[in-house]
Amino acid sequence: MNSLLKNLKIMFIMFQIYLILNTERNVYSMRNLMSPLDFSVAELDALMDTASDIIANPDKYSHACDGKILATLFYEPSTRTRLSFEAAMLRLGGKTLGFHSADSSSATKGETVADTIRVVSSFADICAMRHPKEGAPLVAAEKSSIPVINAGDGGHHHPTQTLTDLMTIRSLKGKFDNLTIGMCGDLKFGRTVHSLISALVRYTNIKFVFISPKELKLPEYIKEHLDSLDNVEYKEVSKLEDVIGSLDILYMTRVQRERFFNEEDYVRLKDFYILDKAKMALAKNDMLVLHPLPRVNEISSEIDDDPRAGYFRQVRYGMFIRMALILKLLDITV
Ligand code: NCD
Repeated sequence: MNSLLKNLKIMFIMFQIYLILNTERNVYSMRNLMSPLDFSVAELDALMDTASDIIANPDKYSHACDGKILATLFYEPSTRTRLSFEAAMLRLGGKTLGFHSADSSSATKGETVADTIRVVSSFADICAMRHPKEGAPLVAAEKSSIPVINAGDGGHHHPTQTLTDLMTIRSLKGKFDNLTIGMCGDLKFGRTVHSLISALVRYTNIKFVFISPKELKLPEYIKEHLDSLDNVEYKEVSKLEDVIGSLDILYMTRVQRERFFNEEDYVRLKDFYILDKAKMALAKNDMLVLHPLPRVNEISSEIDDDPRAGYFRQVRYGMFIRMALILKLLDITV
């Protein structure tokens, strides 16, 4: 009897050691997504291959995340990104929980992001966080025991929109090299633009045309980075009509009202660009128009049926690439 108890005790201790080692290994190999540069070009290619396979064979993936939970912690408004994450997890067989505004979370009681993520780590397997403060998802990732995805932090980065944009460009243009890409609108506060530029400069012979009013020009730190690269050319202009004919892709953006210091400036700048049929007539026959959405007035609905308008197809690619991302960060192979 005594030796049986002793053996049981040894087995129990060994089991505990196994659990500790296993948890440590998971924490060390755990990946987050804070910026598009967290993945190598090869990893991005593999991620897009998975997304394409999901599009072709959705049934194969419909139980890949059975029993898993995604938390969506959105301290800032969102329609597409949050619903796209939720749809992605549901289509993988998983479940979701979360909040969609800071007002409905304990942030109103003064809870820090670091404490919230520790709590959420006990409930969910993976988390997507949007926050108005630059760097907040990184703070969360440092305290988290589950993978954290930056779903937009202030005017800084929006890596999953970039994955969406890359997936759309690869699917509809078939390449990333040798492209002239116009980015138009609020280049100062538009985080989707900042993230997309950082991802595109890793390809060959990229030419950027930055189209904005002088008040909404690309931040200096990004231009300094571009100046240090050999494979990238860029120019800055303020009139869309002057350059639209040279573009392979036109990436339109909304003027980011919530990041303006005063309403007067916003009202003055909000309708600076309106892409309409007359301007589209000046563009190449195969120019692709993208927009992270929501749009306000910057793309007239009269061009929605133009075959070059890619922005609603872009939304759908976003869901598939987020499915691929969830699988990658949860280390699930199908
Ligand atoms: C973008 C964002 O939140 O930065 N939207 C999105 O996630 N698709 C763009 C924007 O709000 O203008």
